[in-house]
Amino acid sequence: MSKLKIAVQKSGRLHDDSMQILKEVGISIDNGKDQLKAAARNFPLEVFYLRNGDIPQYLKDGVVDAAIIGENVLVEKGKDITVVEKLGFSSCKVSVAVPKAFKYKGVQDLEGKRIATSYPNTVNEFLKQHNIEANIHIINGSVEIAPNIGLADAIVDIVSSGSTLFKNNLKEVEVILKSEAVLAASPVISDEKQNILDRLQFRLQSVLKGRK
Ligand code: PRP
Ligand code: MG
Repeated sequence: MSKLKIAVQKSGRLHDDSMQILKEVGISIDNGKDQLKAAARNFPLEVFYLRNGDIPQYLKDGVVDAAIIGENVLVEKGKDITVVEKLGFSSCKVSVAVPKAFKYKGVQDLEGKRIATSYPNTVNEFLKQHNIEANIHIINGSVEIAPNIGLADAIVDIVSSGSTLFKNNLKEVEVILKSEAVLAASPVISDEKQNILDRLQFRLQSVLKGRK
């Protein structure tokens, strides 16, 4: 019998809560994230521990059938991927931030500026909507350091508690989008796997109802 292949963040903010919700729906998985793949004992499911940014492509290619992933990653890299269910954890924003001393009045102040981010597509889309031209610098982590080392005038990154912004003397000036963890499906999922996914979704819905 075939198993649903589901991608879960290997390490990072979503990992623990993703494993927790699978546990709460009664699926027991044999081992932790030290291995890249693990099978469930009592449900036709295999978990693949992957890097966040790689998951949208794996979904598109059908290498995995489903994923627990942040909506923000889908907005950035997975426009054609379907959100099956919002999971209510790992809420965050993707926001524009500038140094506290920057007298920011509105988006027009970003014209011609250098913006550091790990989310270039999201930023491009936002700038296009507002008719702003700016220079995007792609950085893969610790984006908030960029203004302090003279690499950028502004940043776009994830804001959760806001403490990283605070520690780096930055202030949030625009919220581009709000995000949370979601269950997402591959656009090329087979009927057989879709059936398993439906069962998983049904179980998730009852857990989510119970949490409210
Ligand atoms: C993430 C994100 C922000 C921060 C937001 O970084 O890129 O920097 O968390 O959280 P906060 O508002 O609660 O401070 P992470 O620590 O995951 O590291 P990375 O940027 O190097 O990937
Ligand atoms: Mg960071």
